[in-house]
Formats: sequence, C-alpha cells, structure tokens
Amino acid sequence: MLTKISRLSIQKKNKSKIVCLTAYSKNIAEEIDKYADIILVGDSLGSVLYNYDTTRKVSLKMMIEHSKSVRKGVKKSLMIVDMPFNTYKNKFQALKNCKKVLKETKCDGIKLEGGRKLNGVIRYLTMNKIPVMGHIGITPQTIRGKYRYKGKTNLEKKKLIKDSKSLEEAGVFAIVLECVERKLSKQITETVKIPTIGIGSSKFCDGQILVTDDMLGLTESKIKFVKKYIDLKKNIRQAVKKFKLDVKKSSYPSIKYSY
Ligand code: KIV
Repeated sequence: MLTKISRLSIQKKNKSKIVCLTAYSKNIAEEIDKYADIILVGDSLGSVLYNYDTTRKVSLKMMIEHSKSVRKGVKKSLMIVDMPFNTYKNKFQALKNCKKVLKETKCDGIKLEGGRKLNGVIRYLTMNKIPVMGHIGITPQTIRGKYRYKGKTNLEKKKLIKDSKSLEEAGVFAIVLECVERKLSKQITETVKIPTIGIGSSKFCDGQILVTDDMLGLTESKIKFVKKYIDLKKNIRQAVKKFKLDVKKSSYPSIKYSY
C-alpha cells in the first residue's frame, strides 16, 4: 500500500501540484484537510498567535499542544510538525525530541530548518525512521537582519543547490524553499528527485505552502508573496457588530435561542 509520503513523489512525477497549508488547531485543520496534501503545524504560530518577534521563542511544549489539537482535525492529509529552535542541536537531542513529537502528537513527520550543516543530524534521524522535511532559503529560526529573498548572488545560488542536494542525500522526503529566486527554485526542483514546496519562491516548485492565517486575512501580513483569498477579519468584525447590536436591542436570545 502506498504511504502518504510516497504519494508525494508520485505527485512530483505526474506534475500534480502539492497543496500545503499551516494549521495550529483542530477547527481550521478540519477544513483544510479536505483540500490539502500536507498540513504543517508551523512554528510560525509564535508570531501569528503569540505575537512573538521571533519563532525562536516557540517551545517544544507549545508545538506538541497545538499539534495534538490539529491531529484531531486531520484525517487524510500528511501532518508535519515543525521542530522549534534549539531542539535539534545535535543528532542525539534531535532524535529524542523528534521521537517525543511523533509519539505525543501522532504526526506523520517533522520539519527542520537548515541545509548542509544539518546533514549529520538529518541522516541520523532518517536512519532511525523519522520522516523529515527540509527547509532552506529564508529560515526564520536563524534569520539575521532583513527578510530578503535568497539566490541573488552566485555564492548564494551555489550554496542553495549544495544544500538541497545534501538534504536529499540525507534522506528528507521533501524540501520547503522559502523566498528562493524564481529561476533558482526551478533549477533546484529539476535537480532533486524529491518534491520541493515553495513559499514565496515560484510556480516551478512541485507544491506551494502559505500560512493559513495570512491567506485568510487574519493577519496584517504585507509580505509580497502573501495572497489574501478572503478578508476574514472583516467578516469577523461584521458578525461581532451584529451580535453587539442584537444584545443591546435585547433581540438576542429570541425564543428560538432560549429554553
Ligand atoms: O512555520 C511555518 O509556518 C513554516 C512555513 C510557512 C513553511 O515554516
């Protein structure tokens, strides 16, 4: 029987795009699950839900608790959990923490940020049967300075190509390419056999991911690649305003909504 992970490589071969979104709780996960191939419990929850200035402040405990909630809403998609900063500093620590996440959240795999430097850690995890997703380009856990796309210079291009090959060789089943220059993301996608998932990269990637709260209009994100598919903030405001009026006029709860 095909596993959810092996289905991804078939999607790459068949050029059927891979749909990914983030979720931090059951209710959202349940709705996304009907349409997505991958649901990521991203450590972006640090900035989106907790207003942290960096994802570095996200703890393993937070990731586990949110993932447990997400698990309840995911039936068919592949569920991946981000390993937060400082939880995979060496291969032994990484294996211990990844096993804990897999056991407690029942997710299908984990995601780590980083390229060649992580080769040893990732190789050790995959050898120990931990399904790993890679993440290169902009890596928010280690970002310094401005949020600038990657692959501008020849040096950066070479580095990212080497990073992607190294991740593939270490056994990751897919790689997130965050803000990688168009042509370079095409080149990487054509070079590696595993699927690439773009975020702010290009249509040439095998799949795309967005932070769900961004695409639903629940955040004030001004990032170039964020496309708002709905302005949920506006819908919420309208609903709350109606509720307020109903309460003020004593028209809620009417007989229909009372015992
Ligand atoms: O944390 C996150 O949500 C992510 C994705 C946006 C790729 O890493």
